[in-house]
Amino acid sequence: MSGSPLWYKNAVFYQVYVRAFCDSNRDGHGDFPGLTSKLDYFAELGVDCLWIMPMYPSPLNDDGYDIADYYDIHPDYGTLDDFKTFLHEAHRRGLRVITDLVLNHTSDQHPWFQQARKSKDNPYRDYYVWSDSDQKYQGVRIIFLDVEKSNWSFDETTGQYYWHRFYASQPDLNYDNPAVREEMKNVVRFWLDLGVDGFRADAVPYLFEREGTSCENLPETHAYLKELRALIDHRYPGRVLLCEANMWPEDVRAYFGEGDEFHMGFHFPIMPRIFMAIKKGDAADMIDILNRTPEIPETCQWVTFLRNHDELTLEMVTEEERQWMWEQYAPEPRMRLNLGIRRRLAPLLDNDRRKIELANSLLFTLPGSPILYYGDEIGMGDNIWLPDRNGVRTPMQWDDGPAAGFSTAPPDRLYAPIIDSPAYNPARVNVAAARSDPASLFHTIRRMIAARKQHNVFGWGAFSWADCDTTAVAAFWREHEGARLLSLNNLRDETQTITVKLPLPSRAPKTLLGQAEQLSRTGNHLRVRLAPLQFIWLLF
Ligand code: NOJ
Repeated sequence: MSGSPLWYKNAVFYQVYVRAFCDSNRDGHGDFPGLTSKLDYFAELGVDCLWIMPMYPSPLNDDGYDIADYYDIHPDYGTLDDFKTFLHEAHRRGLRVITDLVLNHTSDQHPWFQQARKSKDNPYRDYYVWSDSDQKYQGVRIIFLDVEKSNWSFDETTGQYYWHRFYASQPDLNYDNPAVREEMKNVVRFWLDLGVDGFRADAVPYLFEREGTSCENLPETHAYLKELRALIDHRYPGRVLLCEANMWPEDVRAYFGEGDEFHMGFHFPIMPRIFMAIKKGDAADMIDILNRTPEIPETCQWVTFLRNHDELTLEMVTEEERQWMWEQYAPEPRMRLNLGIRRRLAPLLDNDRRKIELANSLLFTLPGSPILYYGDEIGMGDNIWLPDRNGVRTPMQWDDGPAAGFSTAPPDRLYAPIIDSPAYNPARVNVAAARSDPASLFHTIRRMIAARKQHNVFGWGAFSWADCDTTAVAAFWREHEGARLLSLNNLRDETQTITVKLPLPSRAPKTLLGQAEQLSRTGNHLRVRLAPLQFIWLLF
């Protein structure tokens, strides 16, 4: 792909679950030929880059985050050739593609682990982390709390325990072994040679283990990640590494290094605080977290999101805040999972268009490159009765026909049932209807993306809170090369009239998106009346 090597600074990402997108061969599972047939949809929406969730052969105990072969495509999804065609067709439309790179662990079905567990002297034994005792690395937190009781599992055949930060069926690789470090570099080279534009690197804080530590964010881990980055800079300029570290901003800061580790990193803690702000009608929590977010090198970028394929994680909040979030957003126990909430965006926000647009306004104007989660652009619903996180991974709803236009397979062959609740079934929520209604959420989001593309200030702009007389409105500036964007977001379900102090001199503002009931200016004071839950983007 041509273009600036810094393309990711100003890109909008879209997260794709291949299984859910489009089934081309009537087996009930989405696949690459199906996804390829939908590429024009992304062009219409205007996104720049697709993030493809794990597409490798896998027993699917963790929906593909348990990889059994790093060099192929899951048979449900098609063949490697199908993937290549998809990539070629995406690139032809100017769309970039990043894939998931799972460095920390493999599936227990991976041949390396199958070998490793045969005997203590197997050449692959040292690819994984073994111990005679399950008391090593005491105190390291368990991530999949609802299922796993320990980070160690006992292997009957060889009488030792193996280490895993996620499901027991996902043994952690041993990064102290140079062979492992090299194997994963080979994986990286393979996919970059094939043409992918980078990786969303899964679960990177956990690569190394050291006694007496939390086994997270260790210097050894950073050193290895820097080697991966050097490899990219050397042979694949313009490709990107996106860091998945569900950590506090000051810890994620380390993953950017001096601009020599990750290009991008998810900003996890801002996400729940957007939901807090909308529920409380107060920006205070957002203000706190952004004020404690360190500066990052100019060539780096935060990545923001409202929802993804996992539970809405509440790891980056206090215990008190977590209880509050559960009470407010997960009143039914079934909505809760691990330390989070397994619901989609629209149901979380009461299917209230104003709240959904407001959340997206924040997503699109806060610092960082936004990622949309498939289906959220049309307000898809969820199914909390499906196991694990599957309730937010149901088939994409293309139209109101059988199987929502996702597949022509009989309903009982679909990998997951189509959402059938009264508010979110395909007769109510589908792409075709959203497209043909100029007032739909889909078109609002399309306009948000278009606005971002026209103005570099969204991707590049320095961030500062506006001098405003209330925190009931999230009011902030983005500034870049003389362009100033003012984003005003009324978090309350009541009209707000606010006064914002303008830096002088200030030109007359132009409304990019959203609306105010009244807008007047006296000297360096801007008075704005915003309807309940209304936002406006002003360009000065
Ligand atoms: C983070 C991924 O987002 C999640 O879906 C997965 O289960 C874990 N990493 C383990 O790979």
